[in-house]
Amino acid sequence: MATSQRMPQPSSEERPRFVDRPPERFNDPKLNPYLIGHREFGPPLLTATQAATYYGRWHEAFGRHAPLHVEIGAGNGFFLAGFAQKHPEINLLGIEIRYKRTVLCARKIRNAGLSNALITRYDAWFLDDLFEPGSLSGLYINHPDPWPKDKHEKNRLISRWFLEEAAIFLREGATLRLKSDFEDNVARVPRLLDADGDGAPMPALPFQITGRCEDVTQGEGLWPDDIETNYQSKFRKRGLPVYAIELTRTGQAWPPEGWVSKHAR
Ligand SMILES: C[S@@+](CC[C@H](N)C(=O)[O-])C[C@H]1O[C@@H](n2cnc3c(N)ncnc32)[C@H](O)[C@@H]1O
Repeated sequence: MATSQRMPQPSSEERPRFVDRPPERFNDPKLNPYLIGHREFGPPLLTATQAATYYGRWHEAFGRHAPLHVEIGAGNGFFLAGFAQKHPEINLLGIEIRYKRTVLCARKIRNAGLSNALITRYDAWFLDDLFEPGSLSGLYINHPDPWPKDKHEKNRLISRWFLEEAAIFLREGATLRLKSDFEDNVARVPRLLDADGDGAPMPALPFQITGRCEDVTQGEGLWPDDIETNYQSKFRKRGLPVYAIELTRTGQAWPPEGWVSKHAR
């Protein structure tokens, strides 16, 4: 794997970045053992510091040019490893914030002998550290943390802000697939395409809704190549629905000229 310095990024002066815990803190025996474990695992697991060096050149991390797809909140890695196995033509990067889960994902990738999947410990609120505009061919979010209480609404990943970010990173024709056990995470998406979380009008985002399903645990679901995740199987076994929606990036430019998002960090 290449180790050269990260490429310069235009927004690096203006926006805070996700910071990896510094190596000198790793000697504290009270720290999570997976904090050290995730550093020592090696490929297919990239630390946050390593991942950020691949901005603009992810093909080097994978060792080949292929469409780059990303799963956010990869959890135990069932989707990541399963989808990469079903799609050898793509490079699939998992992003997961919890140390132990990155190790579980990495083990699944390694045990399956996959060379087209990687996992990194990174924070999904900082995707602009990792990706150039228009560089992603697919984005997958399976059961994002629900934060159901109103007072925690600002913590929800599925937000106007996140959809604006997705509009920047996804190329024309790329799809965003979302599955959630929390109905509002899916129900709010159509509203957020042209309004903010409070319902105030916003410029229409460059997405078409190309699929919607009230329960992917029943019948044929929404995608023939879908993979059941750990959380998804828990809800299916309890007889509870898993909602899903698919957005496809249109060719419309984003952001509109002269418009400054109030959601920018
Ligand atoms: C409810 S779990 C779902 C896990 C898995 N996708 C599944 O369906 O089984 C949500 C996952 O998102 C991860 N997560 C939460 N916030 C995150 C963030 N800001 N960046 C990256 N991952 C995050 C959590 O650690 C957790 O693994």
